Amino acid sequence: MNYPFWDTQLPYGPLMGLIAVVHVFVSHFAIGGGLYLVIAETAARRAEDQARLAFLRTLSKFFLLTTVVFGALTGVAIWFIIGLLNPTATEALIHNFVWGWAIEWTFFLVEIAAAIVYFYGWERLSARDHLRIGWIYFAAAWLSLAVINGILTFMLTPGNWLASGDFWDGFLNPTYWASLVLRTGVCVLLAGTYALLVASRLPADRFKTSVVRYNALWALGGLLVTLPSFFWYFRIIPAANLQAATFMVYPLWSVHGSLLFAAALAFLVLVFGCLLPRRMHLSVALLIMLSALGWFASFEWFRESVRKPFAITGYLYANGLEVSRMDAYRKDGLLAHTTFRTGDDGADLFRHTCRSCHTLRGYRPLLAALDGTDPAFIAGTIRGIHKLKGNMPPFPGTAAEAGALADFLHRRTDRRPLAEIYRLEGTALGRKVYEVRCGRCHEFGGFNDKAESILGLTEKDYDDLLKNSGEIAEEMPAFSGSPAEKEALIQYLLSQKPGGAK
Ligand code: HEC
Ligand code: HEC
Repeated sequence: MNYPFWDTQLPYGPLMGLIAVVHVFVSHFAIGGGLYLVIAETAARRAEDQARLAFLRTLSKFFLLTTVVFGALTGVAIWFIIGLLNPTATEALIHNFVWGWAIEWTFFLVEIAAAIVYFYGWERLSARDHLRIGWIYFAAAWLSLAVINGILTFMLTPGNWLASGDFWDGFLNPTYWASLVLRTGVCVLLAGTYALLVASRLPADRFKTSVVRYNALWALGGLLVTLPSFFWYFRIIPAANLQAATFMVYPLWSVHGSLLFAAALAFLVLVFGCLLPRRMHLSVALLIMLSALGWFASFEWFRESVRKPFAITGYLYANGLEVSRMDAYRKDGLLAHTTFRTGDDGADLFRHTCRSCHTLRGYRPLLAALDGTDPAFIAGTIRGIHKLKGNMPPFPGTAAEAGALADFLHRRTDRRPLAEIYRLEGTALGRKVYEVRCGRCHEFGGFNDKAESILGLTEKDYDDLLKNSGEIAEEMPAFSGSPAEKEALIQYLLSQKPGGAK
């Protein structure tokens, strides 16, 4: 814990996601667009098609502005934001791949220089030299993807690197090739969709028909590469990651979402790109672009969420704590290893262990789930935090630190009884008590279901179960609700039939 914590009111996950998705959307276009330009230019020059060459020139201006200006700016924004949000992960990536980054940087420099020469060279260079520069651009751009792809996939599947620490084990990791093919398909797909956007503004004549159809083929070709490679990628993800994600809403949504977006994209491109090319209006081209963005963003979202609770699987947790140092943290206390402290221990513990994924109230609000409980319950929950639904990292501190964090949180919760906060009584209150005090670790019919041991008991059994609940498991908090809450919980459990509980 060598870094201070960047403490703001912003929701960090969505902030990171937003910048990253915008950047990858532009940077993949930068690669596919390069390939599109050289291939289309070669064909147009061969056919001496001046109208097509003029179109490509317009496209290359749009291309230069999006990639060199917007792409480069958002790329810097990513470094800026990951450095702020997870400095330890950034440090690990730099240390392990320092030459990878250096090579990436070199390719990027060649890419940018070639893009500028290409754009200003339409008149100044001979046709052959102009095309050569185009190919140099594309090669450098694609190679920079091939490098960064190794580092991105490493974070989800570091493979043998965890044991060997070897650069190549981490770089050519299990998901490297599937992801490279997938991303190359995305590049081609995006080249087609951006070119459709530019072509949508042409007057509706025969020229537009041929340009739109040509661009539609690029989009469809790219999409055809991405679909099988997505399933290939999906199949190599370690079973443990997928299993942990099973109970989470986001990874599932994003897989379903990605398929819906891909279907919408294919439909729009087929109808307006191939069948009715003259109807390819700006609004349709924008819709196509949004579907492509949706598809790609869902994939990136899936990739990020299936990695939880890690930033680098098996090596570093999403909150910046190193797996290998967890024992030391638990033994000496996390604060003893924290370089930058503010004097408020509870707040520091919150920042370094929870704040990367939660705010107190607002984004993924932590307090709402703890309203109406007590410090002992909260401390117990913190000690068993990795057993809650949510794929969270284990708590990295001592029992006393769990207590300090619990006090910090409890002071900020609504401290009235559950009955008063939610205006409930009887079995409805009991259901709430279950949801708050048990349900985040045991969902009936869902996550870590314990219906078989919990339902169908007698009143006396329930009384004993709750009385001895502190001895069931180290990660399970003892029941510490009020007598009225206990009574309501038992009434609720008695009212539920084993197997049919809701
Ligand atoms: C790696 C990200 C991450 C970290 C770090 C993290 N959590 Fe979570 N937490 C989640 C996710 C994801 C959920 C599930 C949210 C959902 O189901 O909508 C969750 C759920 C919860 C819930 C249940 C919320 C509810 O409404 O059901 C509590 C309580 C909670 N976390 C407490 C904590 C505490 C305390 C810490 C710090 C010790 C912490 N979390 C650290 C990601 C994280
Ligand atoms: C912070 C998480 C957490 C909370 C909250 C929690 N439990 Fe548990 N519970 C566990 C863990 C961990 C185990 C050990 C077995 C396992 O890992 O699933 C367990 C085991 C049990 C078992 C043993 C049954 C078996 O088949 O293994 C019962 C019964 C049980 N819990 C009931 C409850 C009840 C009732 C509540 C609410 C009053 C509750 N739990 C709240 C984490 C929790």
